Amino acid sequence: MSHIKQKIKKICCIGAGYVGGPTMAVIALNCPELEIHVVDISEERIEKWNSKDLSKLPVYERGLDKILEKTRGINLFFSTNIDLAIEQSQMIFISVNTPVKKSGIGAGQMSDLRYVEACTRRISEKAKGHTIIVEKSTLPVRTAQTIKSILSSKIGSNNKDKTFSVLSNPEFLAEGTAINDLQNPDRVLIGGEDNYSISVLEKIYLNWVPSNKIIKTNLWSSELSKLASNAFLAQRISSINSISAFCEVSGADVAEVSKAIGKDQRIGAEFLKSGPGFGGSCFKKDILNLVYLCNYFGLKEVGDYWQGVVNINEWQQDRIYKIIVDKLFGNVSCKQIAILGFSFKSGTNDTRESPSISISKKLLSEGAFLKIHDPKVKASQILKDLDGYNFVEDDMDYDNSNNQGSWTFSKDVLTASKNADAIVVLTEWEEYKTINWEEISLYLRKPSWIFDARGVLDSSRIERIGLNLWRLGSGNFNNLS
Ligand code: NAD
Ligand code: UGA
Repeated sequence: MSHIKQKIKKICCIGAGYVGGPTMAVIALNCPELEIHVVDISEERIEKWNSKDLSKLPVYERGLDKILEKTRGINLFFSTNIDLAIEQSQMIFISVNTPVKKSGIGAGQMSDLRYVEACTRRISEKAKGHTIIVEKSTLPVRTAQTIKSILSSKIGSNNKDKTFSVLSNPEFLAEGTAINDLQNPDRVLIGGEDNYSISVLEKIYLNWVPSNKIIKTNLWSSELSKLASNAFLAQRISSINSISAFCEVSGADVAEVSKAIGKDQRIGAEFLKSGPGFGGSCFKKDILNLVYLCNYFGLKEVGDYWQGVVNINEWQQDRIYKIIVDKLFGNVSCKQIAILGFSFKSGTNDTRESPSISISKKLLSEGAFLKIHDPKVKASQILKDLDGYNFVEDDMDYDNSNNQGSWTFSKDVLTASKNADAIVVLTEWEEYKTINWEEISLYLRKPSWIFDARGVLDSSRIERIGLNLWRLGSGNFNNLS
């Protein structure tokens, strides 16, 4: 086996997304001796990664631009030349998307592995010599087996000396804090069967991660730990959100309850902020995948338990929408509602599974006119997310005669608030915490409502000037009926 102990000089990452781009940028920064190629089938995405203007990167992450200034074109390269990158690399990260299957067996739950399979086939065909394959995407347990089977078929001709070793190295970064999470991870997980390959990957991380933070497991524990981690995090959010509803009917305050719970060191304070439900590309899909696997392996009760986490999340969004309609006298048709925040959380321009999408769609279906603002999400993205709903360029183009829900993009909070009957805060952006309510109040149509679904607004200031306030998880204010 001595031929496989070659030095790693070139690595590549297939998939230049939210994970592939930032992860490879941080490896490039910490390992200047490595040449790293991030490749993707999307020309548009790669063009953006190569854009001279660093504000045009396809992913917005604090600190990413500074890292690219130091690495791009030096030891970090972005291209669509996937085959060449595969041929030249001794280690290949698979970081493609793994969405939920839309149709067929397991539709709506099971991971769609078509992208993983496509690039594995390509690796199988194009790789040369010994190659370490690293699963970076979040995958169903035992996917490494599928990858190994495809690789071992060694598609193509030049396959005499082709050998592979498969590792699982799931990513735990959160969007918005990706660079810090990658530079200072709580842990790095490496699962595998071949100690030499594990040590090669470990050596890369040891350039900046302390050895006591690197956990080595078998392949299946590593794959399952990623799904379980996301399920546990999401479960905490659904737990506190279920309590938020209880607070509203009992006079308690969820911020106080969450602080009291979190002070118990066994529970801990993180991930206990109630809100409009978890969004993001992964929590829902990963739990649904876990549910699917539980049922597949005959563990129905376990699957039902985790399904409950998703159910509460959907219920929370539906609950907020119904409260808005209820407070506005049961009718939002032709009413103007400012939606503040469209990304699934602050610090990112990502809208995937954002609670703002589902709540906006429900309000639009009731005939409301939504004026949507977000400091980072572009109107073009919202157009995709609200596909099928009527868009107007600005307030002047709004025609309320047809009773149809419509929306427009507002460039700032003030514009969104003009003539609005209600303001709904759905993302906890910093700038919403310091809104000048005295000024905004002048522009609202009275009686006006402020709905704070993130518990971030200056409530005493809002109440002082006589606006109606509903705050998620608060038994005070106007929540109690
Ligand atoms: P993404 O959609 O942003 O990026 C995936 C990229 O892969 C896309 O640019 C797509 O064009 C490319 N791709 C698909 N098939 C390809 C192929 N055959 N060859 C080359 N490129 C191909 O996805 P993401 O958010 O980066 O997530 C990637 C994986 O990481 C997923 O499994 C996800 O669950 C996991 N993950 C995501 C996060 C996150 O915060 N987004 C965090 C941890 C783990
Ligand atoms: C999450 C995990 O935190 C990462 O560890 C994981 O790697 C990633 O998923 C993934 O696998 O994709 P991310 O989705 O980027 O990261 O964002 P989070 O910070 O976890 O937030 C997810 C959602 O939960 C957001 O909508 C956020 O607003 C919500 N949330 C979070 C709450 O409502 N309350 C909280 O206390 C925390």
